[in-house]
Amino acid sequence: MRIDILTLFPEMFEGVLHTSMLGRAAERGILEFHTHNIRDYSLSKHKNTDDYAFGGGAGMVMTPQPVFDCMEAVLEGGSAKRILMTPRGKKLTTELAREIAGEERLVILAGHYEGLDERISELIDEEISIGDYVLTGGELPAMVLADCVSRFIPGVLGCSFSAEDESFSADGLLEYPQYTRPADFRGRKVPEVLLNGNHAEIAKWRRRQALIKTRQMRPDLLEGARLTKEDIAFLKELEDRGE
Ligand code: ADE
Repeated sequence: MRIDILTLFPEMFEGVLHTSMLGRAAERGILEFHTHNIRDYSLSKHKNTDDYAFGGGAGMVMTPQPVFDCMEAVLEGGSAKRILMTPRGKKLTTELAREIAGEERLVILAGHYEGLDERISELIDEEISIGDYVLTGGELPAMVLADCVSRFIPGVLGCSFSAEDESFSADGLLEYPQYTRPADFRGRKVPEVLLNGNHAEIAKWRRRQALIKTRQMRPDLLEGARLTKEDIAFLKELEDRGE
């Protein structure tokens, strides 16, 4: 997958896109990242990219010209899924990330200032928000989207690791607790069941722990989770025990 990011602050992306899993995937040619400085496309004398809002009001608005020119130059007549990061967009979820991962090419526009001139939305296929809070710009949201989508591209996580086996997996539960060595750390012991090599027992324990964690931390997720009869019986048992 190729991801182009249109931003006023390309330097913010350096570390994130070139380090760890994303960096390795880019080195291996599975992902390709390109950042573009919108300011380079401004035709104004001082390379401005914002202006006062018509009708008044506090804050500056991103002007259409540099964004249109930047988008057109990046696309070069080709096509891509064009996404705008904005708090008014559709909320990012695992399902949305998985769907977007099916695209061959993404262009992500990271907005800044108090807002964007509404005509910029003509350039956009989908507006996405990373949550109900407002950040100072779309750069961090663009990084979140790039990271989250990349995990669904085959080969990015490596073969022994699956994006499906974690919190917000296809079953809609939070992840079970994980442990590694030592088996006893300052007197805190790893649950015995994980040490005995009985895979059926381990799977059952993990499922139950995922149910317990989800019920404790995000009970709202249980409504949409894919639960088996056994899961439902276990949850009822917890309820009956007053846990
Ligand atoms: N820009 C500012 N806040 C944002 C958010 N929550 N999601 C996406 N883009 C944003």
